[in-house]
Amino acid sequence: MTSGEANRVTRRSFIGWFTLLLGAIPAIGATAVGAVSIVGSVFRRAANGAQRFARVGVVREFKMGSYRRVELCGGGADAWRRDAARVEGAAYVRLESGGSFTAFSTRCPHLGCEVAIDDAGRAFRCPCHGSEFDASGKRKRDSAGKIIGPAPRDLDPLAVRIASTGEASQNGSPPQQVVEVEVATFQTGTSSRKRI
Ligand code: FES
Repeated sequence: MTSGEANRVTRRSFIGWFTLLLGAIPAIGATAVGAVSIVGSVFRRAANGAQRFARVGVVREFKMGSYRRVELCGGGADAWRRDAARVEGAAYVRLESGGSFTAFSTRCPHLGCEVAIDDAGRAFRCPCHGSEFDASGKRKRDSAGKIIGPAPRDLDPLAVRIASTGEASQNGSPPQQVVEVEVATFQTGTSSRKRI
């Protein structure tokens, strides 16, 4: 092959590759747009903030007037997670005399340590830096009126709802009333309450 013929072949090959590349651009573009759109929709679903609840027990298991610690599992179905058994947090839940329920996140609003409950199940103390909270989740004050500990806000309340299992048990007793607690996490270290 002469050098002129070699140059023609090289030019032809280049034109061939260039044409192929031009043809592929729309396909690459469409794929990229599709990928961005899928990722976008996943983020939208994860971020659209629908309230989630975890079932924590049947109503009659809760004792009136004292808190019980429960783990929050099964509220985790979102765009990324489908694990119903995964523990996503914990709450202190109390049955009130009128039949309603009160619940608080166990996470201290200071830096997120789990607050402990006293033996009577009526007040909370954070083991990390000593913040204390009363039975209604409010920060306690010392005798001089100063807030005890560094927590910047009261405990974070969680919504509670009562649902029915919808099935009669084997011995014919009616469907159970079950307690469901909101699965939510709040930013720590801030005086205002912000969900994350
Ligand atoms: S993390 Fe609770 S007082 Fe600091």
